[in-house]
Amino acid sequence: MTAAITIEGLEVVFDRFRALKGVSLDVREGESYGLVGESGSGKSTLLRAITGLAPVASGTIAVNSKRLGKTRDKAFYRDVQMVFQDPYGSLHPRQTVDRLLQEPLAIHGIADGEKRIERALDEVGLGKGFRFRYAHQLSGGQRQRVAIARALILEPSILLLDEPTSALDASVQAEVLNLLEEVRRRRKLTFLMVSHDLAIITHMCERLMVMRNGEAVETLTASQLIGHRVGEDYTRNLLRASEGFVRV
Ligand SMILES: Nc1ncnc2c1ncn2[C@@H]1O[C@H](COP(=O)(O)OP(=O)(O)O)[C@@H](O)[C@H]1O
Ligand SMILES: [Mg+2]
Repeated sequence: MTAAITIEGLEVVFDRFRALKGVSLDVREGESYGLVGESGSGKSTLLRAITGLAPVASGTIAVNSKRLGKTRDKAFYRDVQMVFQDPYGSLHPRQTVDRLLQEPLAIHGIADGEKRIERALDEVGLGKGFRFRYAHQLSGGQRQRVAIARALILEPSILLLDEPTSALDASVQAEVLNLLEEVRRRRKLTFLMVSHDLAIITHMCERLMVMRNGEAVETLTASQLIGHRVGEDYTRNLLRASEGFVRV
Protein backbone atom coordinates (compact mmCIF):
# COMPACT_ATOMS: atom_id res chain seq x y z
CA MET A 1 0.00 0.00 0.00
CA THR A 2 1.19 3.51 -0.79
CA ALA A 3 2.24 5.82 2.02
CA ALA A 4 0.36 9.10 2.38
CA ILE A 5 2.47 10.47 5.24
CA THR A 6 5.82 9.13 6.41
CA ILE A 7 7.53 10.75 9.37
CA GLU A 8 10.89 9.68 10.68
CA GLY A 9 12.61 10.85 13.84
CA LEU A 10 10.76 14.14 13.96
CA GLU A 11 12.01 16.64 16.50
CA VAL A 12 10.33 19.97 17.10
CA VAL A 13 11.99 22.44 19.43
CA PHE A 14 10.43 25.71 20.62
CA ASP A 15 13.30 27.79 22.02
CA ARG A 16 14.81 25.07 24.17
CA PHE A 17 11.63 23.08 24.76
CA ARG A 18 11.48 19.79 22.89
CA ALA A 19 7.82 19.38 21.99
CA LEU A 20 8.50 16.34 19.78
CA LYS A 21 11.43 14.10 20.63
CA GLY A 22 11.97 11.90 17.62
CA VAL A 23 8.55 10.69 16.52
CA SER A 24 8.07 8.29 13.60
CA LEU A 25 4.78 7.53 11.95
CA ASP A 26 3.39 6.17 8.72
CA VAL A 27 -0.10 6.76 7.44
CA ARG A 28 -1.23 4.78 4.42
CA GLU A 29 -3.13 6.22 1.52
CA GLY A 30 -6.87 6.13 2.26
CA GLU A 31 -6.36 5.32 5.90
CA SER A 32 -7.84 7.11 8.87
CA TYR A 33 -5.15 7.40 11.52
CA GLY A 34 -5.60 8.72 15.05
CA LEU A 35 -3.34 10.54 17.49
CA VAL A 36 -4.24 10.34 21.16
CA GLY A 37 -2.55 11.37 24.38
CA GLU A 38 -3.02 13.81 27.18
CA SER A 39 -2.97 17.55 26.67
CA GLY A 40 0.51 18.83 25.90
CA SER A 41 1.77 15.52 24.52
CA GLY A 42 2.55 17.05 21.11
CA LYS A 43 -0.42 16.01 18.97
CA SER A 44 -1.15 19.45 17.53
CA THR A 45 2.55 20.13 17.14
CA LEU A 46 2.85 17.03 14.95
CA LEU A 47 0.07 18.26 12.63
CA ARG A 48 1.55 21.74 12.60
CA ALA A 49 4.98 20.37 11.71
CA ILE A 50 3.45 18.66 8.68
CA THR A 51 1.90 21.92 7.49
CA GLY A 52 5.13 23.84 8.09
CA LEU A 53 3.89 25.75 11.14
CA ALA A 54 6.21 24.27 13.77
CA PRO A 55 10.01 24.56 13.95
CA VAL A 56 11.42 21.20 12.86
CA ALA A 57 14.86 20.63 14.41
CA SER A 58 15.52 17.24 12.83
CA GLY A 59 13.87 14.28 11.16
CA THR A 60 12.01 13.96 7.89
CA ILE A 61 8.45 14.27 6.68
CA ALA A 62 7.25 12.91 3.35
CA VAL A 63 3.77 13.43 1.93
CA ASN A 64 2.60 11.26 -0.95
CA SER A 65 6.17 10.00 -1.24
CA LYS A 66 7.59 13.48 -1.66
CA ARG A 67 10.02 14.59 1.00
CA LEU A 68 9.20 18.03 2.35
CA GLY A 69 11.81 20.74 2.71
CA LYS A 70 11.71 23.81 4.93
CA THR A 71 8.90 25.48 3.04
CA ARG A 72 5.66 24.17 1.57
CA ASP A 73 4.65 25.03 -1.97
CA LYS A 74 1.14 25.76 -3.22
CA ALA A 75 0.77 22.21 -4.51
CA PHE A 76 1.25 20.99 -0.94
CA TYR A 77 -1.61 23.13 0.35
CA ARG A 78 -3.89 21.86 -2.36
CA ASP A 79 -3.17 18.33 -1.32
CA VAL A 80 -3.09 18.73 2.45
CA GLN A 81 -5.73 20.67 4.34
CA MET A 82 -6.21 21.20 8.04
CA VAL A 83 -9.42 21.49 10.07
CA PHE A 84 -9.07 23.01 13.52
CA GLN A 85 -10.99 22.51 16.72
CA ASP A 86 -12.49 25.91 17.07
CA PRO A 87 -14.97 26.87 14.38
CA TYR A 88 -15.17 30.35 15.94
CA GLY A 89 -11.46 30.97 15.74
CA SER A 90 -10.79 29.52 12.31
CA LEU A 91 -13.45 31.38 10.30
CA HIS A 92 -13.67 35.13 10.19
CA PRO A 93 -17.11 35.96 11.68
CA ARG A 94 -17.73 38.98 9.44
CA GLN A 95 -17.23 37.14 6.20
CA THR A 96 -19.89 35.38 4.21
CA VAL A 97 -19.68 31.67 3.59
CA ASP A 98 -19.21 32.52 -0.08
CA ARG A 99 -16.22 34.70 0.65
CA LEU A 100 -14.69 32.11 2.97
CA LEU A 101 -14.97 29.51 0.21
CA GLN A 102 -13.79 31.87 -2.55
CA GLU A 103 -10.58 32.71 -0.75
CA PRO A 104 -8.68 29.42 -1.26
CA LEU A 105 -9.96 29.27 -4.85
CA ALA A 106 -8.57 32.73 -5.56
CA ILE A 107 -5.22 31.95 -3.92
CA HIS A 108 -4.86 28.86 -6.09
CA GLY A 109 -6.27 30.46 -9.23
CA ILE A 110 -9.01 27.89 -9.70
CA ALA A 111 -11.46 28.53 -12.49
CA ASP A 112 -14.43 26.23 -11.84
CA GLY A 113 -15.15 27.90 -8.50
CA GLU A 114 -18.95 28.03 -8.87
CA LYS A 115 -19.22 24.32 -9.31
CA ARG A 116 -16.87 23.60 -6.45
CA ILE A 117 -18.67 25.92 -4.04
CA GLU A 118 -22.03 24.33 -4.79
CA ARG A 119 -20.64 20.84 -4.52
CA ALA A 120 -18.85 21.56 -1.24
CA LEU A 121 -21.92 23.18 0.35
CA ASP A 122 -24.09 20.24 -0.71
CA GLU A 123 -21.56 17.78 0.47
CA VAL A 124 -21.39 19.19 3.99
CA GLY A 125 -25.17 19.27 4.20
CA LEU A 126 -25.62 23.04 4.10
CA GLY A 127 -26.72 23.68 0.52
CA LYS A 128 -26.91 26.88 -1.52
CA GLY A 129 -29.11 28.65 1.03
CA PHE A 130 -26.11 29.15 3.29
CA ARG A 131 -23.88 30.68 0.69
CA PHE A 132 -24.46 34.33 1.54
CA ARG A 133 -24.86 34.01 5.29
CA TYR A 134 -22.25 35.44 7.60
CA ALA A 135 -20.12 33.11 9.69
CA HIS A 136 -21.38 34.81 12.87
CA GLN A 137 -24.97 33.89 11.94
CA LEU A 138 -24.19 30.19 12.03
CA SER A 139 -24.28 27.65 14.85
CA GLY A 140 -21.09 25.91 15.96
CA GLY A 141 -21.93 22.79 13.98
CA GLN A 142 -22.77 24.82 10.85
CA ARG A 143 -19.51 26.72 11.16
CA GLN A 144 -17.56 23.52 11.41
CA ARG A 145 -19.36 22.30 8.27
CA VAL A 146 -18.19 25.48 6.52
CA ALA A 147 -14.64 24.82 7.76
CA ILE A 148 -14.87 21.32 6.28
CA ALA A 149 -16.26 22.69 2.99
CA ARG A 150 -13.38 25.14 2.88
CA ALA A 151 -10.90 22.33 3.43
CA LEU A 152 -12.51 20.26 0.67
CA ILE A 153 -12.78 22.97 -1.94
CA LEU A 154 -9.22 22.48 -3.18
CA GLU A 155 -9.86 18.74 -3.54
CA PRO A 156 -7.09 17.61 -1.21
CA SER A 157 -6.08 13.98 -0.67
CA ILE A 158 -5.19 14.40 3.00
CA LEU A 159 -7.08 16.08 5.84
CA LEU A 160 -5.34 16.88 9.11
CA LEU A 161 -8.04 17.14 11.75
CA ASP A 162 -7.17 18.67 15.11
CA GLU A 163 -9.95 17.89 17.59
CA PRO A 164 -12.47 18.78 14.88
CA THR A 165 -15.55 18.24 17.03
CA SER A 166 -14.44 18.85 20.60
CA ALA A 167 -15.94 22.37 20.70
CA LEU A 168 -19.37 21.00 19.76
CA ASP A 169 -22.29 19.56 21.76
CA ALA A 170 -22.46 15.77 21.84
CA SER A 171 -25.32 15.40 19.34
CA VAL A 172 -23.78 17.87 16.89
CA GLN A 173 -20.44 16.18 17.41
CA ALA A 174 -21.86 12.86 16.19
CA GLU A 175 -23.37 14.53 13.09
CA VAL A 176 -20.10 16.17 12.14
CA LEU A 177 -18.14 12.94 12.71
CA ASN A 178 -20.57 11.05 10.47
CA LEU A 179 -20.22 13.75 7.85
CA LEU A 180 -16.43 13.48 7.98
CA GLU A 181 -16.63 9.72 7.61
CA GLU A 182 -18.96 10.03 4.58
CA VAL A 183 -16.72 12.59 2.94
CA ARG A 184 -13.69 10.42 3.52
CA ARG A 185 -15.31 7.45 1.86
CA ARG A 186 -16.71 9.41 -1.06
CA ARG A 187 -13.50 11.27 -1.79
CA LYS A 188 -11.13 8.46 -0.78
CA LEU A 189 -9.31 10.78 1.59
CA THR A 190 -6.59 10.06 4.09
CA PHE A 191 -7.23 11.37 7.60
CA LEU A 192 -4.74 12.11 10.34
CA MET A 193 -6.96 12.98 13.25
CA VAL A 194 -6.24 14.19 16.76
CA SER A 195 -8.64 13.67 19.61
CA HIS A 196 -8.37 13.28 23.34
CA ASP A 197 -11.55 11.19 23.14
CA LEU A 198 -10.67 7.51 22.72
CA ALA A 199 -14.23 6.60 21.74
CA ILE A 200 -14.07 9.05 18.82
CA ILE A 201 -10.70 7.75 17.69
CA THR A 202 -11.78 4.10 17.78
CA HIS A 203 -14.98 5.02 15.92
CA MET A 204 -13.20 7.01 13.22
CA CYS A 205 -9.75 5.47 12.85
CA GLU A 206 -8.26 2.12 11.88
CA ARG A 207 -4.93 2.66 13.60
CA LEU A 208 -3.65 5.11 16.14
CA MET A 209 -0.57 6.28 17.92
CA VAL A 210 -0.52 7.05 21.63
CA MET A 211 1.65 10.03 22.52
CA ARG A 212 3.13 11.27 25.75
CA ASN A 213 5.53 14.15 26.42
CA GLY A 214 6.51 14.47 22.79
CA GLU A 215 7.13 10.76 22.29
CA ALA A 216 5.26 7.85 20.76
CA VAL A 217 4.19 5.44 23.50
CA GLU A 218 2.79 2.77 21.19
CA THR A 219 0.91 2.15 17.97
CA LEU A 220 -2.33 0.18 18.07
CA THR A 221 -5.23 -0.83 15.89
CA ALA A 222 -8.63 0.46 16.94
CA SER A 223 -9.72 -3.08 17.80
CA GLN A 224 -6.72 -3.58 20.06
CA LEU A 225 -7.67 -0.43 21.95
CA ILE A 226 -11.35 -1.41 22.14
CA GLY A 227 -10.36 -4.85 23.42
CA HIS A 228 -7.95 -3.27 25.92
CA ARG A 229 -5.13 -5.25 24.29
CA VAL A 230 -2.58 -2.55 24.91
CA GLY A 231 1.11 -2.84 25.68
CA GLU A 232 1.75 0.13 27.91
CA ASP A 233 0.50 1.16 31.34
CA TYR A 234 0.21 4.72 30.09
CA THR A 235 -2.36 3.63 27.52
CA ARG A 236 -4.18 1.56 30.13
CA ASN A 237 -4.44 4.67 32.30
CA LEU A 238 -5.78 6.66 29.38
CA LEU A 239 -8.42 3.98 28.90
CA ARG A 240 -9.31 4.09 32.57
CA ALA A 241 -9.45 7.88 32.56
CA SER A 242 -11.70 8.09 29.51
CA GLU A 243 -14.94 8.03 31.37
CA GLY A 244 -17.62 5.84 29.87
CA PHE A 245 -15.27 4.34 27.34
CA VAL A 246 -15.59 0.85 28.83
CA ARG A 247 -19.29 0.97 27.96
CA VAL A 248 -18.66 1.67 24.28
N1 LIG B 1 4.35 27.89 19.78
C1 LIG B 1 4.79 27.27 20.88
N2 LIG B 1 5.76 27.80 21.65
C2 LIG B 1 6.20 27.17 22.76
N3 LIG B 1 5.74 25.99 23.21
C3 LIG B 1 4.76 25.41 22.49
C4 LIG B 1 4.23 26.01 21.29
N4 LIG B 1 3.27 25.20 20.80
C5 LIG B 1 3.20 24.13 21.63
N5 LIG B 1 4.09 24.26 22.65
C6 LIG B 1 4.31 23.31 23.74
O1 LIG B 1 4.53 22.03 23.17
C7 LIG B 1 3.89 21.02 23.94
C8 LIG B 1 2.95 20.23 23.04
O2 LIG B 1 1.85 21.07 22.68
P1 LIG B 1 0.70 20.58 21.73
O3 LIG B 1 1.28 19.95 20.53
O4 LIG B 1 -0.22 21.73 21.53
O5 LIG B 1 0.00 19.45 22.62
P2 LIG B 1 -1.39 18.69 22.41
O6 LIG B 1 -1.96 19.10 21.10
O7 LIG B 1 -1.07 17.24 22.49
O8 LIG B 1 -2.23 19.11 23.58
C9 LIG B 1 3.18 21.72 25.08
O9 LIG B 1 3.99 21.65 26.22
C10 LIG B 1 3.06 23.14 24.58
O10 LIG B 1 3.04 24.05 25.67
MG1 LIG C 1 -3.76 20.09 20.66
